[in-house]
Amino acid sequence: MNQIDWAGWREEFPGLRLSTYLNTVSLGQLSRRSRAAMVHFMDLWTETGSAAWYAYWLKEQQATREEFARLIGADPQEVAIMPNVSSALGAVSSSLDFAKRSQVVTTALDFPTLTYHFLAKDREGLESVILASPDGIQVPLAAFERVVSAKTALIATSRVYFTTGFIQDVAALAQLAHRNGALLLVDDYQATGQVPIDVRRTEVDILITGGLKWLIGGPGIAYLYVRRELIQSLKPTVTGWFSHARQFDFDPHHLEFREDARRFEAGTPSVASIYAGRAGLQIINEIGAVNVRRRSAELREDLVGRLTERGYRLRLPADPDTRSGITIVELEDPMAVTRALAERRIIVDKRPGAVRISPYFYNTTEENEIVVEALTELTRGSW
Ligand SMILES: Cc1ncc(COP(=O)(O)O)c(C=O)c1O
Repeated sequence: MNQIDWAGWREEFPGLRLSTYLNTVSLGQLSRRSRAAMVHFMDLWTETGSAAWYAYWLKEQQATREEFARLIGADPQEVAIMPNVSSALGAVSSSLDFAKRSQVVTTALDFPTLTYHFLAKDREGLESVILASPDGIQVPLAAFERVVSAKTALIATSRVYFTTGFIQDVAALAQLAHRNGALLLVDDYQATGQVPIDVRRTEVDILITGGLKWLIGGPGIAYLYVRRELIQSLKPTVTGWFSHARQFDFDPHHLEFREDARRFEAGTPSVASIYAGRAGLQIINEIGAVNVRRRSAELREDLVGRLTERGYRLRLPADPDTRSGITIVELEDPMAVTRALAERRIIVDKRPGAVRISPYFYNTTEENEIVVEALTELTRGSW
C-alpha cells in the first residue's frame, strides 16, 4: 500500500549523509530542490536586475501562496506570505479590537513568542490568561472551557506543542471560541507539514506557520492564513505599502487595503526565502501530508519503543493519535548529552530538563537505533 520511495526522497537531502540528523523540530533539512531554487533566484537577479520583480519574483510569491493554500485546504486569497511568525502575529493582532473583548487565552505549553506578544499588550488593557498544564503534556479542553467567555477575543494556541509534541484538537477549540463569539488563532509552526490539516473543516480562523521546520523551507518565510469571511473586517495598524490595494499609485493620503490576505503583507518580501520555501511546500504536497504523517508516525513509534525498552522517561501523550514527530526524553543534563551526541555527529535538540528527538519522513529506523544506542552509552546509570 505504501508506494512511496522513501529512500529516493532521502537522496533529495544531501545533509543527511553528514550526520544522524534527528532535529527537524528545530530546523528541517535543505533539499536539493530548495538549493536549486535559491540559485535560480540569484541567477534571475544577475541576469534581469530590477525586471526580476515583475517578470519572476512576485509571480513566485503568488505561486507560493497557492502551494501553501493547497496544503491546508484554503483559497490562495486567504494566504499572506510573511517573514516570520512574530511579524504575522503582529500584523493580524493589530487589526483586532481588544477594547470590546479584552481577554486572550494561551497556554503555558505554547511557544513564548505567542505569550510575549499578548503580554506586551497589557498596557493596552489586554488580559492575558496563560493556562497551566496539569501533566506537563497537554492542556485539557475543560481548562479552556472554564475561562473562555463573552469577554474573550481570542484563543491563541498551538496545534502541536513544541514542548511535548502533543496534537491539540483545534476543531474543538474553534467550536468553543465560536460559541463564545471569539476567534481561534493557531500557531501551527510545529504542525504544518507533519500533521495534515483542512482549515475549512476545522474552522480555524487564523493560522500562522513557517518554513523552518516541517515545511523544509528554511528561515525567512512564514505563512498566514485568515478565513475569507474575516479578512474584510480586519484592518491592520501594523501595515505598509504592500498592504495597499493600489500600491503603485504612491498616494500618501489614502490607505485602501487589498481585498485579500495580502493586506497583512506590509513590506518588501524576502524573495530568496520564498524560493526556498515554495520548493519545500512542493515536496510536502508531492508526497502528500497524509503520507508524511504515516511515515513519521511509524518512525516515532519505533523510536518510542526503543527508548521505552531502555527505561527512559518520556513526556509522551497517552493516545498515539495525539503524538506527533517530536519525542521528548527527560534527562538530568540535556545540554551535556546533546553536546556529546553532536560530537558523535548525532544531532538532536535540548530544552530544559529534556532532549527532543524528531525523526521526519527522510529519516530511518537505523538512525533511531544509532541515537538510542549512543544515548544509552552516554547516560547509563544516570536515569
Ligand atoms: C511553535 C513555534 N512558534 C513560533 C516559532 C518561531 O517564531 P518566529 O518565526 O517568530 O521566530 C517557533 C520556533 O521555534 C515555534 O516552534
